Amino acid sequence: PPTRLDGCRRPRTNGRRPGRRGTTLALYRIEGGFPLTGTIRVGTAKNAVLPILAAALLVEQGTTELEEIPNLRDVATMEAVLESLGIRIERRGTTHRLDARAIHSTEPPAELVGLMRASVLVMGPLLARMGEVRVALPGGCNIGSRPIDQHLKGFQALGAEVQLEQGIVTARASRLLGTTIYFDFPSVGATENVLMAATLAHGETVIENAAQEPEIVDLANFLNAMGARIRGAGTGTIRVEGVSRLSGTSYLPIPDRIEAGTYLVAFAFTGGEGYVEGAIAEHLVPVIAKLREMGHYLEEDEDGIRIVATRDPKPVDVKTQPYPGFPTDMQPQFLALLATVPGTSVVTETVFENRFLHAAELAKMGARIRIEGRTAVVEGTSLVGARVRATDLRAAAALVLAGLAARGTTEVLEIVHIERGYERLEEKLKGIGAKIERVEDKDLAPEPPPLFLPRFLAPGETVGRGT
Ligand code: UD1
Repeated sequence: PPTRLDGCRRPRTNGRRPGRRGTTLALYRIEGGFPLTGTIRVGTAKNAVLPILAAALLVEQGTTELEEIPNLRDVATMEAVLESLGIRIERRGTTHRLDARAIHSTEPPAELVGLMRASVLVMGPLLARMGEVRVALPGGCNIGSRPIDQHLKGFQALGAEVQLEQGIVTARASRLLGTTIYFDFPSVGATENVLMAATLAHGETVIENAAQEPEIVDLANFLNAMGARIRGAGTGTIRVEGVSRLSGTSYLPIPDRIEAGTYLVAFAFTGGEGYVEGAIAEHLVPVIAKLREMGHYLEEDEDGIRIVATRDPKPVDVKTQPYPGFPTDMQPQFLALLATVPGTSVVTETVFENRFLHAAELAKMGARIRIEGRTAVVEGTSLVGARVRATDLRAAAALVLAGLAARGTTEVLEIVHIERGYERLEEKLKGIGAKIERVEDKDLAPEPPPLFLPRFLAPGETVGRGT
């Protein structure tokens, strides 16, 4: 098998463009230039919910009850993956109860894995619980090549036999054995996958150079509530003492720090003021610091963060880093914001390759951004409304924010990306005074995947892009 395990494969389309015929596409039409004011509430973190859902696969005894699950396309995709493996899900409002006692498959459908890269998070739990997993390498190339070599290196270290043949990864182990694993890069997904697998391994596992994101801590807290023995989550070294089985529990995952950061930028961008309810300031240290450096006033309390935008913002330099550094998932929103700040700002992306696709769209609105490799040099100017196309989830958010601040009308196409990670975005933004409307447009192409995924997709029927 090839040595480079590159996950950057396009989903199969059977010669068609991605999407389904006969459906309409939605766009956002935004009238910009109005300051936003009021209170906006953040939901439960998508990136905490996805691994926690996958971890429910580990539970042989009892059921898992998850509260305040957001209605997002990525959550629907992960739940469809779990159902295809045999998990039964009962939904009561936003509480989802998962019954994983009868897992009957160890191979998630390639169509679903192709829709969303985070589907690979079922690998660790399936390998640990079932002794085997087979996954077609995921899609999701919009923000650069995203291999899964660190995940596979972790499984191998735990004693699994890993094979790659024609884009399909197979991992097998009758019982995983605790060991020390060093990640070359603190990958969020690899840390989560190996952490989940190690909970059921024999003996102690030490994960060195582990990712330290709040979502890792939340996953560890959830696993510990189920009977796992994990220490050190949130630091670079995580220790896991393997246990023989995990039991069901109830859990409420953390609020979404990226959603919160997006709303803070919305207030700053439009010269408004307001309160982001549910935001945990401790999770947003670099975002708050950079907004303050620009001159905005921010005040933290136990329930959220208040912001009053300055009329005279200063340019700043931003460099993305693994947590606790500046989050790459806030980079597009900041790039858009800095495009309107007089002077020169420099934005450096170190986590992903090719995560500046939104710069070209912002340029259609008048932004002056020069890309040099992993750096964007931004000369602040004023933005004007235009028709722009979202290229991924956070790029879509950045374009919506730019539209709220720009003079005139902005249309953001391909808002299917927004629905992957922001729940009721236009409704929430309207609540703080935004003039934003969701418009169905029949003339647009290509078409997106359906809003709510059918339980099982026919092979090749629906494909799309995931990050
Ligand atoms: C997660 C988040 C995503 C966020 C990212 C970085 C979820 C569901 N998604 O993605 O929103 O942007 O963290 O904060 O939580 N890499 C490798 N080999 C690997 C794994 C990763 O080279 O085995 C590289 C990737 O190509 C990328 C970088 O490491 O350049 C970051 O990836 P990783 O931290 O794994 O991000 P995800 O878990 O995919």
